Amino acid sequence: MRSFDPSVVDSPEIHRLLVGGVAPRPIALVSSLDRTGTSNLSPFSFFNAFGVNPAVICFSPAYSGKTGKPKHTMLNILETRECTVSIVTYEMVHQISLASAPYERGIDEFTKSGLTKLPSIKVAPPGVAESPFIMETRLLEHVDFGKGPGSANLMICEVVLIHVDELVLTAQGGIDPLAIDQVARLGGPYYTRAKRGVFALPQPGKPLVGIDRLPEEIRSSPILTGKHLAQLATLEMLPTESIDDDRTLERRHLAAREWLEQGNVDRAWKALVGE
Ligand SMILES: Cc1cc2nc3c(=O)[nH]c(=O)nc-3n(C[C@H](O)[C@H](O)[C@H](O)COP(=O)(O)O)c2cc1C
Repeated sequence: MRSFDPSVVDSPEIHRLLVGGVAPRPIALVSSLDRTGTSNLSPFSFFNAFGVNPAVICFSPAYSGKTGKPKHTMLNILETRECTVSIVTYEMVHQISLASAPYERGIDEFTKSGLTKLPSIKVAPPGVAESPFIMETRLLEHVDFGKGPGSANLMICEVVLIHVDELVLTAQGGIDPLAIDQVARLGGPYYTRAKRGVFALPQPGKPLVGIDRLPEEIRSSPILTGKHLAQLATLEMLPTESIDDDRTLERRHLAAREWLEQGNVDRAWKALVGE
């Protein structure tokens, strides 16, 4: 491993490392108005949601790494304390990239990008009609980390209304990850399309067995990796059968690995302890 100390390494290099390493990042497409009502639209991937009571999101329009200037989005929100955040889909990504160019203050990036304004209900800035998921938000707190180039500005906002396209809502009231088709930002010019890599894992709601309680023969397997052991240990109780099989350890572990690679933990345990 090579180590990089942000107090020694220059900020463009730390920026390259952080945006490549802390990825993929969701993209907030932020619409804001200045105090005269002029509209602005810009994407920010230093962004996430942080809790629901109250519902809080945060994004960071950093001071420009090149010019040190503040982002218009931040200036607008400090003036009006409101914005909308629209989630970006694959269909929208070329347009949001166009919106991110460094236009003069007062230029409306809705016009530049060809995206459509959707009137909001509780706040003045419009949402983006092409997005299936739009949040109306109000500024709770601005956390400033100094005025140097690349310095972060946390815009911590309360979500006061959420609009969701019914086409992406599941019957259980969740969001269908295939239907919503979000994109996320990686380092440099790279993006990723979430629905191309979707897979599901059990959600541990109770204490689970854990790798330390697996039988020693399984824990020290030369065939099963940490991923396989975690799959086997994602159970509330160990199977009661003791290992009782004439096949060699190698054959049992190879068979278990095969089942685990197919996501079948039940069959993997059967292969390990005997049918
Ligand atoms: C996908 C994407 C994500 C971005 N994320 C950020 C970010 O998190 N913080 C930031 O300061 N700039 C980010 N940018 C660059 C801003 O969008 C760009 O500086 C924009 O011109 C800011 O506009 P404004 O000055 O009108 O607010 C991003 C650009 C793109 C294309």
